Amino acid sequence: MSKYVTFEIFRYDPEKDKEPYYKSYKVEIRRPGMLILEGLNQIKWEQDPTLAFRRSCREGVCGSDGINVNGVNMLSCITKIEDLGSDHLVIQPLPGMPVMRDLVVDVTDFFNKFITVKPYLIRKSPTPDKEYYQSPEDRKKLDGLYECILCGCCSSSCPSYWADKDYLGPNAFLRAWRYLADSRDEGADERLPILNDKHGVWRCHTIYNCVEACPKELNPTKAIVEIRRMLMNRNY
Ligand code: SF4
Ligand code: SF4
Ligand code: FES
Repeated sequence: MSKYVTFEIFRYDPEKDKEPYYKSYKVEIRRPGMLILEGLNQIKWEQDPTLAFRRSCREGVCGSDGINVNGVNMLSCITKIEDLGSDHLVIQPLPGMPVMRDLVVDVTDFFNKFITVKPYLIRKSPTPDKEYYQSPEDRKKLDGLYECILCGCCSSSCPSYWADKDYLGPNAFLRAWRYLADSRDEGADERLPILNDKHGVWRCHTIYNCVEACPKELNPTKAIVEIRRMLMNRNY
């Protein structure tokens, strides 16, 4: 890899620009394993302080820095520039979400859909005297479900999510299944009608974009299949 990589970045400030445009910056590779976020910081701190992008934890935990690089959604803070195998990176905001400025998208709709599926334990039984017991075997069933960091890379990569503004999207389904699969939860009768809606799990075309996009290697499509199975078993 050469010492410099071009970052061609989507720029748009709705208060100033009539239309979006792309601006190229030369980013110096200053160490092996340099991350995309370091490149963005280099631009902002040394070349163009007007560039807007989100980041916080810078270690793949907060989920705030999802972006699209050369057509693939990813987190800027855990993606090494050298792993992309190109000296020219086209960097855009997450697709399918309204742009607020440059690489910053409006995630209100994404989070509203997350809330819609009731992402919390629902209990009907009397509260036990001690903790809600869960066996190690039942706890294990939540592996691959609870690790989601709400970065939006999955929903933003989903053609059904782009096409239908009311489609709940892969993240909401993964989160719904995280609770439906929890032995302590008693909320299936509240959640399943929401998921059985025409904007629910049946609208997924099993294209697997969401699986490929997830930086945590989670599998929203598998969750969708499990929810469909539960709906059929319960004769919804
Ligand atoms: S598998 Fe379903 S939810 Fe995932 S990207 Fe494809 S249509 Fe969207
Ligand atoms: S399922 Fe993966 S891609 Fe989707 S929001 Fe969670 S961590 Fe991000
Ligand atoms: S900055 Fe927090 S996940 Fe990347």
